[in-house]
Amino acid sequence: MSTEQIIKRITTKSFYLFKKRGIKISALTAYDFITAKLLDEAGVDLLLVGDSLSNVFQGNETTLPVTMDEMIYHTKAVTKGTKRAMVVVDMPFMSYQLSVDEGFRNAGRIMKETSAGGVKLEGGERIAETVRKITEAGIPVMGHIGLTPQSIHQFGSYRERGKSEEEANEILKDAKALEEAGAFSIVLEKMPAELAKKVTASLQIPTIGIGAGNYCDGQILVTPDMLGMNTDFHPRFVRYYAQIAETIDKSVKQYINDVRKSEFPNADESY
Ligand code: KIV
Repeated sequence: MSTEQIIKRITTKSFYLFKKRGIKISALTAYDFITAKLLDEAGVDLLLVGDSLSNVFQGNETTLPVTMDEMIYHTKAVTKGTKRAMVVVDMPFMSYQLSVDEGFRNAGRIMKETSAGGVKLEGGERIAETVRKITEAGIPVMGHIGLTPQSIHQFGSYRERGKSEEEANEILKDAKALEEAGAFSIVLEKMPAELAKKVTASLQIPTIGIGAGNYCDGQILVTPDMLGMNTDFHPRFVRYYAQIAETIDKSVKQYINDVRKSEFPNADESY
């Protein structure tokens, strides 16, 4: 039997097994029930209720405005649609930066109210104490380093991180600090592929890349981006697997036409 067949529900243990056996981890974002169900049935390993929902669902410019209540609302819908994938939830901006206890309380609230399998926090050494406290309570934590969108106002742009030696060393140190604090996996966002390779080789836990090259233990993309729904956003690291925006446009135009011409509904579609 293959690893895929043995695993009924993806947990942190599956992640360790995947890394040990060199099986790449597939991850995507989800914010609603029906999309989560489709992605889960297709066999994706991890569904992230990303705070990118602030951008792609709520239409905000950054990830900063989304709240704890909103993350919980969306996660409840996603977990209902998921049977196999592990569901991880982004802790929103200012839900863990204030103090270790505040982060701990909010991580606990997410786990209690949503049926998710874990939480994700942005940052390295500076959040290690919070990660330790959360993991010691039995809550799986995913780290996120490199380009961390919650710090956009500090960075000043969405350019790749870790190009200078100083930044690269910081990223390597942050990854180690997260592993030592108990994180089960780390997202590496927008950094040179060679740096992501070094980080990945230095850790026992798997890395999940986005704009971080092909040496990570897995990959994640924002679902509306990879399905070609978000036509305003064309970064180099996104591969388009569908052109859903075009399909929607064509379908809706056809529907409008049918309604206007009284061709919908027909006799078979009526009672
Ligand atoms: O919020 C999000 O979707 C993320 C991914 C880009 C990793 O953090």
